[in-house]
Amino acid sequence: MSTIDISERYQRCVLASRRVRWDIDADVIRGRRFDMRHKFLPDGLVLPGELKTLSIDEKRFASQIQGRTYANVFGLFERFINAKILELGKDHWFGDQVALEALVRFSEEEIKHQALFRRIEALIADAMPPGYAFATDPNVFAGEVLGRSTWAVLALTLDIELFTQLHYRESIEADASLSELFKDVFLFHWKEESQHALLDELEWARHDATIDIGARDLAIDDFIALVGTVDGMLQVQARADAAYFAARCGRTVEAGEALKLEAAFLKAYRWQYIHSGAAHPHFGKVLAGMTNEAQRKRIGDALASLR
Ligand SMILES: [Fe+2]
Ligand SMILES: [Fe+2]
Repeated sequence: MSTIDISERYQRCVLASRRVRWDIDADVIRGRRFDMRHKFLPDGLVLPGELKTLSIDEKRFASQIQGRTYANVFGLFERFINAKILELGKDHWFGDQVALEALVRFSEEEIKHQALFRRIEALIADAMPPGYAFATDPNVFAGEVLGRSTWAVLALTLDIELFTQLHYRESIEADASLSELFKDVFLFHWKEESQHALLDELEWARHDATIDIGARDLAIDDFIALVGTVDGMLQVQARADAAYFAARCGRTVEAGEALKLEAAFLKAYRWQYIHSGAAHPHFGKVLAGMTNEAQRKRIGDALASLR
């Protein structure tokens, strides 16, 4: 890609950012609260077919718990994404000022998204019975992620920002049974994520051009380790969320069913945060442009071990 093409791409991201800009209260929340008569997260993400022992009302409660975790997981991811984007912005300080503006806007948007997800957590906490806990500290998680190579962090970031869009378009948008407020949160979030994914790709390619095959091999080890870090967080949260469900669903859940619920929650979380993004065609295409077959096989094998 020529320098002019790249510059134009950053410019397009700036224009898109200006065009879709929204406000948490005026555009998204609009004084609304959560109504527990509605599902939060759609079936395409919750995979209710795995929750065979649950009634319809209990499946709705599971979708609300997973929806609450969904907002918290995005807030957690955005903590490390924003720190990495601020760090990469330094490379543009005395270069392309349009690229710098694109990354400054990206960062400001992720700060706003984290504030939105904190508001959503508080609003859902008002509507749901007590006892829910989001188990992972976003700063501790970010510290662990940012200890890995930039190549690996950008690979994970593009993966996340692509599946954000995919989830909205394929599962959330079309589901008429979802909470309108929950849908709007992810509609507005999706609007600003579209340009983030374009910027991730530009920054990842820019960084990739600075490393050799040996460094890329090590970066792939780092990427695989990062997927493991995400999976560790998901295992802890699946356990916490299944236990919260069992404590608050209004009936006794025997130990055998509790274990099955935990496994079903983990399967849904791995689908939501690992496999749906890894299977995204554009992620595959960008990855294929930077890696050889042996490297991609290593990634594929690591992902397959998480099923
Ligand atoms: Fe975001
Ligand atoms: Fe983003």
